Amino acid sequence: MAALTDAELKLLQALVYQECGMHFDERRIHFLQDRLQRRLKECQVDSFYSYYRLLISQEGKDELARLLENLTVNETSFFRNKAQLELFHKYVLEDLLRRKHESRDYSLRIWSAGCSTGQEPYTLAMLVADALAYYYLRNPLPYEMPLPKPLIPGPWRIEITASDISYSVLRVAQQGAYNENQMSTVDYSYRLRYFDKVGDHYAVKKALKEQVHFDFHNLKTEYLPQRNDVIFCRNVMMYFDEAEQKRLIDKFYRCLNPEGYVFVGHAESLLGLTDKFQMVHRNSGTAYQRVEIKS
Ligand SMILES: C[S@@+](CC[C@H](N)C(=O)[O-])C[C@H]1O[C@@H](n2cnc3c(N)ncnc32)[C@H](O)[C@@H]1O
Repeated sequence: MAALTDAELKLLQALVYQECGMHFDERRIHFLQDRLQRRLKECQVDSFYSYYRLLISQEGKDELARLLENLTVNETSFFRNKAQLELFHKYVLEDLLRRKHESRDYSLRIWSAGCSTGQEPYTLAMLVADALAYYYLRNPLPYEMPLPKPLIPGPWRIEITASDISYSVLRVAQQGAYNENQMSTVDYSYRLRYFDKVGDHYAVKKALKEQVHFDFHNLKTEYLPQRNDVIFCRNVMMYFDEAEQKRLIDKFYRCLNPEGYVFVGHAESLLGLTDKFQMVHRNSGTAYQRVEIKS
């Protein structure tokens, strides 16, 4: 097995950073070294420098994508960080539905950036469907709702874009089938309403699945979903260095509608990185709202 020299490691580290923003500090450098060794073996290349040459070549595009996939951490779960979701459900959605209703704009766009295997965007879709149903219990529509009641009552249009840099997690997400273990954080009322039991798996019901659109997006690029009301980007930024985090926050600002919200992971924060967002904190849940410059 070829030895990885410091110079080769630096080259590969810089390439990974340039391609996807992931930064491997001292705590995570062994993980990078291990994954590089595995890819080198798989590709049957004789040195890390040759592997680097392959990655930057036209023919190496697929291998570069495979390496990046191998470097991502895909841990996720349904209803992750309950306090934050409570804030999203009870405060943020309530605020957005009221504002939108008043301006007769019946569209809601949410982006789950770094969605992994789909538990996050499907959780958001369930919460939005419930919040809309509850909103219309208190503010009835001016017409009789058709029966059976649609999941999303017209004239509302919900668009949840869920994106990731890894094609393999996106494939799993698109299938929307989860085992008992993955369902452990989904309570029975949600299981009954939004999933079909198929053998030993739970399949996301078609009506809920239709609210979520999966797509490949690399957060390092500028080509990202626009005009969102809410962005969830949880447990992604923690793998970037400060400079990349700042660039990403600026992109989020541009990808949001005025007064839109960003949710980041509980080990992440926007504090000290930007003055374009203000913190919203309720009952242990935190979000950040876009600050509008008043003219
Ligand atoms: C730890 S998972 C978080 C999943 C989910 N947001 C949650 O909090 O449960 C991080 C995800 O971010 C994705 N990711 C990492 N770097 C990315 C990048 N540059 N662009 C898009 N997605 C990225 C990974 O592929 C992975 O699926």
